[in-house]
Amino acid sequence: SMAEKSFKYVIIGGGVAAGYAAREFAKQGVKPGELAIISKEAVAPYERPALSKAYLFPEGTARLPGFHVCVGSGGERLLPEWYTEKGISLILSTEIVKADLASKTLISAAGETFKYQILIIATGSTVIQLMDFGVKGADAKNIFYLREIDDADKLVEAIKAKKGGKAVIVGGGYIGLELSAALRINNIDVSMVYPEPWCMPRLFTAGIAAFYEGYYANKGIGIIKGTVAVGFGTNENGEVTDVKLKDGRVLEADIVVVGVGGRPLTTLFKGQVEEEKGGIKTDSFFKTSIPDVYAVGDVATFPLKLFNEIRRVEHVDHARKSAEQAVKAIFASEQGTSIDEYDYLPYFYSRAFDLSWQFYGDNVGETVLFGDNSPTSPTHKFGTYWIKDGKVVGVFLESGTPEENKAIAKVARVQPPVDSLEQLATEGLAFASKI
Ligand code: FDA
Ligand code: NAD
Repeated sequence: SMAEKSFKYVIIGGGVAAGYAAREFAKQGVKPGELAIISKEAVAPYERPALSKAYLFPEGTARLPGFHVCVGSGGERLLPEWYTEKGISLILSTEIVKADLASKTLISAAGETFKYQILIIATGSTVIQLMDFGVKGADAKNIFYLREIDDADKLVEAIKAKKGGKAVIVGGGYIGLELSAALRINNIDVSMVYPEPWCMPRLFTAGIAAFYEGYYANKGIGIIKGTVAVGFGTNENGEVTDVKLKDGRVLEADIVVVGVGGRPLTTLFKGQVEEEKGGIKTDSFFKTSIPDVYAVGDVATFPLKLFNEIRRVEHVDHARKSAEQAVKAIFASEQGTSIDEYDYLPYFYSRAFDLSWQFYGDNVGETVLFGDNSPTSPTHKFGTYWIKDGKVVGVFLESGTPEENKAIAKVARVQPPVDSLEQLATEGLAFASKI
């Protein structure tokens, strides 16, 4: 039988949460040989958001080792040597295919066995594929998804091979908006297709979306709403040539990028651990229903204290902070001490072209748009407040300065009362700046 390896702590997954967990383990004084990170990817943990942004730029392109964690939050860059120095085993290109939480055993695709005392699940998300909905021809060449660095490398090759070509972006969410911009910057003719009446409906109001749709149209991006891709045409090499839409239109395409959502990777643990809202249920310390098993990042469904609700969050800031919280909790419990409950303020952001927005809080209740959301406004500075039960609970701001972004974060945390929505609209950003 193959050798069995044993560790005090194992992190399954080598993404953002794993990288930030490793740094926290080192801070807490983990001893050489105690910690292993097992990752399907071939590289040390990196800042995943770069893949849909600077990784795809024609100039000023980001490449590893430039964006290993923790540079995305202004921290130290953890190169592979860092893990060696700390005695942390980075077990790469290794997919775990079986997890038995009862016997504390993990088995890899190559048949290796790993034992642990404490497990942190940090498997993140995978992409939802058009094949999952039975879309015909969805397995054609040059149809891309984007989750990991290997996916990004394939896309970069296609961008180079199809210079001046046409791309269709399927989906109007984060991937749709960031990839349309990245491909357009590469001088590709881009069209976006999505079923909803406006882009990013998960977060944007119609007023917010109107700005981005207008801005993208001015950049020459075609926007086709209210329909979906139902099939693809291919040439004799099996490469995609066109996208057939449900409304009967056919769009030529040399490259297709699909971003129709993610799905947390919990399959390995099905039936072994309590799940809720599609994720692995945890407490405020990211402990699951099984002793000595923690879950962090995209896979965790955790108590969001601020809203008195349990939620799953698929964004990088939470991946970082949940990982740190779990590791602190592990060391505290070993030392017989305690730490504060996780008290997270949701924070999402995106960047595309020369635009950059931030959102804090919750997007529920009534909304108030402020500033100039005209796509041709010279400053691009506008935003939206969400108001529930007479209090501001969420704030969105495009093109904010660092101080203004700090101010909107504070508003979302403090949840100040609002007397008049009209007055809030008139005050706009000034309301946030005085909190
Ligand atoms: P993450 O996906 O980072 O890592 C999971 C790791 O587990 C991967 O290395 C995977 O290979 C590995 N794994 C999975 N199953 C395994 C198995 N069975 N065996 C071994 N290894 C396994 N958010 C944001 O706030 N702002 C942004 O701008 C962006 N931009 C962005 C761009 C792109 C292209 C993507 C895909 C995502 C973003 N995000 C984002 C979201 C953000 O990146 C995401 O929420 C975090 O990466 C989640 O961190 P995790 O560590 O949970 O998963
Ligand atoms: P998403 O949930 O943001 O968007 C999915 C979009 O798919 C929907 O808005 C809809 O327009 C579209 N859609 C759904 N079904 C469709 C269909 N049949 N045909 C065409 N369009 C359809 O998901 P995503 O953009 O794929 O992102 C994947 C994951 O990566 C998410 O977890 C996301 O949070 C993360 N991500 C985050 C960022 C960021 O925070 N800036 C950037 C990139 C990716």
